[in-house]
Amino acid sequence: MEDAATLSGRSDPFLQISIVVEMVFLYYGGLKLRLHPQVYEPAEDTFLLAENLKVKERFTALDIGTGTGIIALLMAKRAKFVLGVDINPIAIEIARENARINGIKNVEFRVSDLFENVKGRFDIITFNPPYLPGKTEELEGLIDLALIGGKSGREVIDRFIEQVKNYLTPKGIVQVVQSSITGIERTMEKFTKLGFKVEVTARERYFFEEIVVITAMLNESS
Ligand SMILES: C[S@@+](CC[C@H](N)C(=O)[O-])C[C@H]1O[C@@H](n2cnc3c(N)ncnc32)[C@H](O)[C@@H]1O
Repeated sequence: MEDAATLSGRSDPFLQISIVVEMVFLYYGGLKLRLHPQVYEPAEDTFLLAENLKVKERFTALDIGTGTGIIALLMAKRAKFVLGVDINPIAIEIARENARINGIKNVEFRVSDLFENVKGRFDIITFNPPYLPGKTEELEGLIDLALIGGKSGREVIDRFIEQVKNYLTPKGIVQVVQSSITGIERTMEKFTKLGFKVEVTARERYFFEEIVVITAMLNESS
């Protein structure tokens, strides 16, 4: 337990109220990460991406849908600079706190719907997107944004693919997590049509789905 606050009923000692705030942390890859019930808790999909990142020294990196900031912070250990964005403002607060906890300074976090508040070009862009089908008007909490990818489940990833090239350097790399539920082939086809060289660079099978990391690379001529 990291923090505890006690509010005491001053007049009557039998009416004492104790509020205990317990913070939950995850330890991964040398990072200590604070979790929050309204922010996606890193899971198998996160770890598959984390273990297969193509980030290199001197890279500038962009992590879309950063959640706790885990991928951005892992990349920051190698990259020159990392920007992490998320549509969920609580995620951004938690990610900033996680950068502070770990003393990581070459990272910035900002609220943004995909690239809305992003400027410039990056050597690598990562995204572990929401992909379950569902109506965005019926979200019950900010945490649902981590899972619901629109009516077909593909709305968020398709918007991302349409825009991503505008934010990449000429030899830029995109790494996305995809599930067999929402269509690995469709994502690969879309990248190919835009001139990327595409491959599945990691895969893992779970009960009812396969999770993959798709790595799409530009080359100067495309
Ligand atoms: C599956 S979670 C992944 C979180 C983290 N990257 C990880 O791997 O643990 C998807 C994240 O994307 C964010 N997200 C959903 N739609 C978004 C959008 N349109 N723009 C930016 N972030 C979005 C969610 O809030 C959530 O944090």
